[in-house]
Amino acid sequence: MPDTVTKVWFVDPDLPDREVIEQAAEFLRAGGLVAFPTETVYGLGANGLDPTAVARIYEAKGRPARNPVILHVASIADAESLVANWPPAARLLAERYWPGPLTLVLPRSDRVPDIVTAGGPTVAIRHPAHPVAQALIRAAGLPIAAPSANRSGELSPTCAEHVLRGLDGRIDFLLDGGPTSAGIESTVIDLSGPVPRLLRPGPIPPSEIESIIGVLTRVDAIADDTALPSPGMLDRHYAPRTPLERFETFPAMADRSVELGRDGKRIAMVFFGNTAVDATAIVRVPMPETPGEYGTRLYGVLHDLDQLGLDRILIQMPPATDEWLAVRDRLRRASSHACAAGS
Ligand code: TXA
Ligand code: MG
Repeated sequence: MPDTVTKVWFVDPDLPDREVIEQAAEFLRAGGLVAFPTETVYGLGANGLDPTAVARIYEAKGRPARNPVILHVASIADAESLVANWPPAARLLAERYWPGPLTLVLPRSDRVPDIVTAGGPTVAIRHPAHPVAQALIRAAGLPIAAPSANRSGELSPTCAEHVLRGLDGRIDFLLDGGPTSAGIESTVIDLSGPVPRLLRPGPIPPSEIESIIGVLTRVDAIADDTALPSPGMLDRHYAPRTPLERFETFPAMADRSVELGRDGKRIAMVFFGNTAVDATAIVRVPMPETPGEYGTRLYGVLHDLDQLGLDRILIQMPPATDEWLAVRDRLRRASSHACAAGS
């Protein structure tokens, strides 16, 4: 690798061209890899019922085999055909949030290949809202296995250019439907055990989900820096190549910038809201003050800063509240320097 020419097809994100989708679907049915936009991040898709095709995802990403992948479906009925049971909580959440940025983990059915679940008893399923993703799943007539379309451990892609940066020559086909809207990966809820668990915070805040199905067991990844009980959350993740440091307050970040500046370091500062910028930095990036807009921009900003070859990225954290949980989780992971591979 790289050993393939990656074909890039532009598609209208709202009304994708049928012929292009049909070609991509044909590729998928034949066991090929197709990267495509979802409303969260770009996914790297393969036929979710074909173990050989799914194995190519792991190879292209350099993803550890113990990390399972999400199956993307086009309806609740499709989801039900992939699980051993469909509990009331799944019905309630699917009716409320599908299609959308919510992934449900449930006991798997016999149809699901081992490689999809990393040999485990559960399968993760999502019905994405993006018209290109939906058209592709329908045209293929299959559940599409798709992790984020990045090399393992690197930042998730929120546009086609990000996908190519990591996977050009390693995948067959890329559907370029422009930038994604939510910008961070789906909320993952595990409904396979006696109590529902939040495995990964995402665009849907946990408090909203709790108002529908009751209390979620939360693993507070931010407070204590322990890993989430989802295989893919065990490792360094979502990280730019440039070392990133995070700060709870602007003064703390400003002090650090002065210190690094004295050492001749080239740094970027990513600050929260309209903080006065009295500090040393080559690049200064103000971030939006609402979690939705922040999430939409986050990976794009990190991808762009990573291209500048700086010594350090300093980030001021948004508030430690429920609505910022997902953004804080991703920033924590981006600044983690443990060196195992992630997803
Ligand atoms: O928004 C998203 O979810 C994107 C788009 C492409 O749909 N996909 C995505 O996939 O982020 P990936 O593979 O990068 O992250 C999926 C996460 C991983 O942390 C993985 O370990 C976890 O979901 N996961 C998958 N199957 C699981 C299972 N059966 N049990 C527990 N966790 C699971
Ligand atoms: Mg990923």
